[in-house]
Amino acid sequence: MAVGRDHRGQVLNEEFQRRDHNIQDVMIEDLQRQVAELTQRLRAQDIVYRIISILFGFKIFETSTNLGIMACMRTVISKAKPFVQGAIIDLYCKTFSKCFTIADLGCSSGPNTLLAISEIIDAIDSTRRKFGHRSPEFRVILNDLPGNDFNTIFKSIPYFIETLKKEKGDEFGPCFVAGMPGSFYGRLFPNESINFIHSSYSAHFLSQVPLGIENNEGNIYIAATSPPSVDKAYLEQFRSDFTLFLNSRSEEVIPGGRMVITIIGRRSSDPSSKECCHIWELLAQALREMVSQGLIEEAKLASFNLPLYAPSRKEVSASIQEQGSFHLDMLETFDVNWDAGDNSQNKNYVFDKIKSGKKVAECIRAVTESMLVNHFGEEIIEDLFQKYSENVGEYLVKEKAKYINFVICMTKKEGKLD
Ligand SMILES: C[S@@+](CC[C@H](N)C(=O)[O-])C[C@H]1O[C@@H](n2cnc3c(N)ncnc32)[C@H](O)[C@@H]1O
Repeated sequence: MAVGRDHRGQVLNEEFQRRDHNIQDVMIEDLQRQVAELTQRLRAQDIVYRIISILFGFKIFETSTNLGIMACMRTVISKAKPFVQGAIIDLYCKTFSKCFTIADLGCSSGPNTLLAISEIIDAIDSTRRKFGHRSPEFRVILNDLPGNDFNTIFKSIPYFIETLKKEKGDEFGPCFVAGMPGSFYGRLFPNESINFIHSSYSAHFLSQVPLGIENNEGNIYIAATSPPSVDKAYLEQFRSDFTLFLNSRSEEVIPGGRMVITIIGRRSSDPSSKECCHIWELLAQALREMVSQGLIEEAKLASFNLPLYAPSRKEVSASIQEQGSFHLDMLETFDVNWDAGDNSQNKNYVFDKIKSGKKVAECIRAVTESMLVNHFGEEIIEDLFQKYSENVGEYLVKEKAKYINFVICMTKKEGKLD
């Protein structure tokens, strides 16, 4: 009996093992199919973006905050792409330079960091091929404030260059990438050393909160209830910063060199118009709710204002003209939905207020979190952005909102300036 049982047990065991193997085979096949599908989907995307994401994106992908900002900034970069590529191709065709020095100002650290740079390099490389020219040498300088995570960017550089070489062949480059920590409201590079400056979604950040706006109580940016002196102080700070930006770049860019900057702006002449202020008004509303619940001191809110400004076309072009070193080639306006991934078929409101509210809140959180933590402390953040995401969702089911953006293309004037 015992032998028979043992034998039956062994047979059953073998049967189970065989079934196990079959199941494993099916699972492996299924996994292989999934990997193949995923690979195909990834291939369909921009290759450089994929590599950058894989390289140092995993950590970033884990946090939904970064997902929000990535999608938002990526949409902005892709909308500005034709202008950026148009300017660099034009510059290449005018100079046929053997060496291109390209700087990206406010590069940040994440999967978008090398995206615009790779698009610029792509444009030059495909143009030089059409002419049958040798590849120019590329010198890329990535700038951001000193607190930016340059180490993470640097770790991705060898792979980035290797990929470019694989994509474009051995004749590509060479390409050298370096970092330059510092504020773009001041000198960053040697005299006349840069051919092309790019900056996306960075130059609307001011060097500081405007002075003399203590009376902007209960608001965190220009609002309908702000005294006129607040509008004036913000405009003054923008003018002074943007002039400093242009002064510095005018020393650094070679005559005939180009600059393409994308910033948030506004169509209206009124700086307190909803199109540029409401996104911040909803955040102020969440902060006020927390004041009324005793979670934030009123005085703390009264002393907080955001260091950014959405200028009008007129304000931008007046500053460029007054500073005088650059010719304004083009100032295009484009809109991006607050929720960049939102279904564009519905023009009037979003379908899913929870999802859209969350996505917008993630994007705004990524840009403002460090300022808010510095001022209010870490402990309010989760609660604040939960309230903010609800406020945004409630607003978006009534009205679809968009960021107004400017892409500003400039050429450094040739010859001696007065
Ligand atoms: C919203 S991120 C944009 C990042 C990236 N350019 C993109 O389009 O995805 C703005 C970046 O500008 C940087 N920034 C803000 N003020 C700056 C300044 N004065 N000088 C240099 N970088 C600055 C910030 O540190 C931040 O990394």
